[in-house]
Amino acid sequence: MVSKLLFVCLGNICRSPSAENIMNHLIKQRQLADTIICDSAGTSSYHIGSPPDRRMAAAARQRGINLVGQARQFQPRDFQEFDWILAMDRENYQNILAADPRGEHYHKVKLMCDFSRLYPDKEVPDPYYGGPEGFNYVIDLLMDTCEGLLEFVLAQDRSAK
Ligand code: 4NP
Repeated sequence: MVSKLLFVCLGNICRSPSAENIMNHLIKQRQLADTIICDSAGTSSYHIGSPPDRRMAAAARQRGINLVGQARQFQPRDFQEFDWILAMDRENYQNILAADPRGEHYHKVKLMCDFSRLYPDKEVPDPYYGGPEGFNYVIDLLMDTCEGLLEFVLAQDRSAK
């Protein structure tokens, strides 16, 4: 069984590509590449086609993660395509749910920080207008939440068997 995860933020150049690439890093470490597939998207159209933000990529590189990808916008078809849709903050969460007016996919949409183990945050803070410490914090928080999310997905797969 393959689980497909979609990480969503506003621009798809900072938080969600970081989550996608960190998750892929963990998946590779654990040799789970055949069972979990990741992608990311933004709720806005602001940065369509752009690579990950340079400042975000620098923070990720310091933790041994290479950020790759090209921004795209979230689309309603993603509800069919993905098993889990992970919103970085509450605004992203609301905007995703607004694209599903009948609530058919409500159960698939989660806040990323629901999977936090070590951090009290309820949202992944938007680092875009801040300094380098904000980008470093996002990487550390996502390292933790991606670990928690991976355990959740593996447990779901086990119970579905
Ligand atoms: P992201 O960060 O949602 O984590 O990709 C942002 C990127 C761009 C903007 C805001 C946040 N922006 O306003 O252009």
